[in-house]
Amino acid sequence: MPRPRVTVIGAGNVGATAAQRIAEAGLADVVLVDIVEGLPQGKALDLAEAAPVVGHDIRITGTNDYAETAGSDVIVVTSGLARQPGMTRDDLLAKNAGIVRSVVQQAVAHSPGAIIIVVTNPLDAMCHVALEASGFPPERVIGMAGVLDSARFRTFIAQELGVSVTSTHAFVLGGHGDTMVPLPRYSTAGGVPITELLSPERIDALVDRTRNGGAEVVALLKTGSAFYAPAASVTQMVDSIINDRGMILPCAAYLQGEYATQGLYVGVPVELGRKGIQRIIEIELTNEEQQAFERSAAAVRELVDAMERLGTEAPGSRTPEAAPAGG
Ligand SMILES: NC(=O)c1ccc[n+]([C@@H]2O[C@H](COP(=O)([O-])OP(=O)(O)OC[C@H]3O[C@@H](n4cnc5c(N)ncnc54)[C@H](O)[C@@H]3O)[C@@H](O)[C@H]2O)c1
Repeated sequence: MPRPRVTVIGAGNVGATAAQRIAEAGLADVVLVDIVEGLPQGKALDLAEAAPVVGHDIRITGTNDYAETAGSDVIVVTSGLARQPGMTRDDLLAKNAGIVRSVVQQAVAHSPGAIIIVVTNPLDAMCHVALEASGFPPERVIGMAGVLDSARFRTFIAQELGVSVTSTHAFVLGGHGDTMVPLPRYSTAGGVPITELLSPERIDALVDRTRNGGAEVVALLKTGSAFYAPAASVTQMVDSIINDRGMILPCAAYLQGEYATQGLYVGVPVELGRKGIQRIIEIELTNEEQQAFERSAAAVRELVDAMERLGTEAPGSRTPEAAPAGG
């Protein structure tokens, strides 16, 4: 049986590190794609030359030609621009929407049965672009954000309690960004909710740090943004899909009535397997949590509306009937 195949679009920090992790975990052959000539080829060659030392037989190739990505099981979209000095948020939104639309159209033409994991920011808005550009059903277009956000929350919980990160579990809902909704009563250490282990003030401090987790790394790095934890998060999603593991992970999913939200990508817990999102898991929220979730969804809606205003043709909503079945 041929090994599964993952295409990673964007051979920058997140893309190349995800390629390395996927290869070293032995999950799938990896095709790295970028618009810059030589970059994906060079990084793929370097990664391939690490294989004898690391001890795996994964094939890693780099290309600027989507024909070489044909038959991929998963397509990871990390291509995009970072905000440059003088660029407005709307400029970045329009530029990255253009990039995501173009790469998704080219990639799905060669891999009509793939599952797409979107990473490019602004995440939830880029998921809408990928959904529309691919023509795939919503369960095959998934955004990576919640795995990263909850990993950050887990890190801070473990550090605060002085326990192993592996004994922690965290629950984060909502859009990716400052409006994300960490849920302390569903976040645990050794199965015990942190609301029973930490004071409300300490929990608030950890929640705040989680919300600003991306900005904290950017402020330290000065140039560029986080990529090790984002790449690890992508790899976990790829693992659950490729190996049909059915992990329940927080991901950006297209809601069609769940959580009282219609036609919008927002972070919620989902079961991830070979078919993509196999189930959206709805949990009871308190009034306060539901309000925070709605505020977060409203922030995503604003971005989607901004894309429409900018003429980037992202769908504000789409009915299930309008969604083509995909290949
Ligand atoms: N969802 C998340 O939680 C999360 C976390 C980290 C980063 N990100 C986002 O992921 C994206 C990538 O981050 P990074 O640090 O790897 O950036 P990076 O600048 O290192 O890499 C981006 C790559 O995309 C390539 N690219 C640009 N236009 C392209 C096109 N049209 N076709 C193919 N490739 C193209 C660039 O050449 C570059 O190599 C950014 O948008 C970033 O904000 C999201």
